[in-house]
Amino acid sequence: MAEITSPKLSVNVNKIATLRNARGGNNPNVLQVALDCERFGAQGITVHPRPDERHIRYTDVLELSANISTEFNIEGYPSEDFLQLIEKVKPHQVTLVPDPPHVLTSNAGWDTLQHQSFLELTIQRIKQTGARVSIFLDPNPLLIASAKATGTDRIELYTEAYASGYHHDPAQAIAPYLATAKAAAEAGLGVNAGHDLDLHNLAYLSQQMAGLQEVSIGHALVCDALYYGLQNTIQLYLRALNRSK
Ligand code: PXP
Repeated sequence: MAEITSPKLSVNVNKIATLRNARGGNNPNVLQVALDCERFGAQGITVHPRPDERHIRYTDVLELSANISTEFNIEGYPSEDFLQLIEKVKPHQVTLVPDPPHVLTSNAGWDTLQHQSFLELTIQRIKQTGARVSIFLDPNPLLIASAKATGTDRIELYTEAYASGYHHDPAQAIAPYLATAKAAAEAGLGVNAGHDLDLHNLAYLSQQMAGLQEVSIGHALVCDALYYGLQNTIQLYLRALNRSK
């Protein structure tokens, strides 16, 4: 019988850097937290360096890259500085997001119709580093053909709308995501997901979306760790993702 694989958990450690930066010292230590996430079972570490370095700094990215042993995923808008960082670090995966430099957090996926040629050139450049590329996308199957044409390997579904609709009607909230994931699979694209995923909405997403390969989770996981501790929290997220239950 074929082994059942569950989506991988990549922990976004930006919030740890935000906490550290609040006092100017090195507490909490971002690298140590990332290593502990791995030790407790996380299968990847995600960072989202922003141009103003208000949470993750470029130096954190270099340090993490040299020390972590699971999949390293770097997210960001492909500015020249970002691309040069990618060329230096050569992470396993690069997730491109369209957010302007000063927004609080990512709030939309790419318009792959409008930005197809920009993405195509950017992705060609990133692929020379050997990284897998994923692009952040709203749940809309009509975007898949132009997403595919950019040369990306995967899409990351922007799950904010799923998370906000989940409590009211899970089946309705997930429907456009399942349609987009299906179109992506048919086009030969892999599927990741992220944003606002938490212990309430994660298990349903993992069970319903058979092809989902990876989730990246930051905010809720770090909040939960305040109550449950980091080790228990990571175990709870892995359990929510587990499809062999
Ligand atoms: N994916 C992308 C592209 C993001 O920008 C973020 C937030 O930095 C996440 C996933 C993780 O979202 P959250 O912190 O809500 O788990």
